[in-house]
Amino acid sequence: MNDLAGKHIVLGLTGGIACYKAAELCRALVKEGATVQVVMTEASEQFITPVTMQALSGRPVYTSQWDAREPNNMPHINLSRQSDAILIAPCSADFMAKLVHGRADELLSLMCLARPVDKVPLLIAPAMNREMWAHPATQRNMQQLADDGATILGVGSGFQACGETGDGRMLEPNELLEDLIAFFQPKALAGKKVVVTAGPTFEALDPIRGITNHSSGKMGFAIARAAREAGADVVLVAGPVHLPTPRGVRRIDVQSARDMLAATEGEAARADVFVATAAVADWRPATHSDQKIKKDGSGAAPTLAFVENPDILATVAKTARAKSGALFCVGFAAESHDLVKHATAKRERKGIPLLVGNIGPLTFGQDDNQMLLVDANGVQELPRASKLDCARRLVAEIAQRLQRR
Ligand code: C5P
Repeated sequence: MNDLAGKHIVLGLTGGIACYKAAELCRALVKEGATVQVVMTEASEQFITPVTMQALSGRPVYTSQWDAREPNNMPHINLSRQSDAILIAPCSADFMAKLVHGRADELLSLMCLARPVDKVPLLIAPAMNREMWAHPATQRNMQQLADDGATILGVGSGFQACGETGDGRMLEPNELLEDLIAFFQPKALAGKKVVVTAGPTFEALDPIRGITNHSSGKMGFAIARAAREAGADVVLVAGPVHLPTPRGVRRIDVQSARDMLAATEGEAARADVFVATAAVADWRPATHSDQKIKKDGSGAAPTLAFVENPDILATVAKTARAKSGALFCVGFAAESHDLVKHATAKRERKGIPLLVGNIGPLTFGQDDNQMLLVDANGVQELPRASKLDCARRLVAEIAQRLQRR
């Protein structure tokens, strides 16, 4: 992936033990295609050396406003004008306080003050002891920085280097990377609420066994991430899958189709968009045994009876139509052949404005996909791409349709 291709990021390091994570962050940014210019405060050099950061970024590190390498001796101007964003990770409590006051007694704070605020966004990843983080002064400073236009990326929680446990850890490099990538995505769904179903369902036979399917959940998770990147408030109703929750997405874990319907109906009532990607089991066992169904030694197999599960998408779409139709519903169809014919028929049968068709065996468990968009105007085939790129494209298509309404 090259989600940061062409982006020039200034990575600022301030004093804190989380500097060790900045090395990995730098590497991740470079891997994602960004050019990274590291700027370090004197305090940060107590924790990690400029040599390490130079080797990882492939560029000399700046540590002083008196750096004679700049022909005009103005690194604070030159570095800030060239960048697409300044990311301070880790940002110490002291450095936050400095930024609030517009102090400029060393290169990094001077550069933040000198940046054109409307062109060069400032993102802050705080890192400090839990008491320092909870202190009213720090919380006040954080609010002031946000009011001044900075983006505060939040903190993690857990065991801290000082031996205490609580809020204030710097977010992990992969979380910061995901947040930075999201920051640059167009906010086409800002203010909208999106509900996504993903993964398989599990229909229990007894406490030990059940029926399910091979859905990986990757497409639905990618859509949840893309919708969040686009600024939406996202709820992901997930069947049993082992995937990490995308940043900023609220996840509700469910097992059966009926659990999934209940969770989805509750959330969809207040949503603008519903995307059903879940591979819901069509049938569930007619009865559920509270105890394990045992072999009796006779060689006779149990006879299993099934009943049909509710169609979550059709049910939610019908309720939305009955209530004036504000909810925009999107379905998926995985077919093995005659995709256009089956997908077109399925869109009408489900009573939804947009359906995404794909060839099942070419997408199950894969990291890429090819989508066929079917709406009232006809069929549009999109190029094969990663599931995340497909998801971003779908989100853009949904946003366009919401605007046209
Ligand atoms: O009818 P079929 O299962 O092929 O329809 C697929 C679409 O309907 C997908 O969007 C899927 O998430 C949704 N669906 C559902 N509830 C079901 C079956 C399918 O929401 N019980």
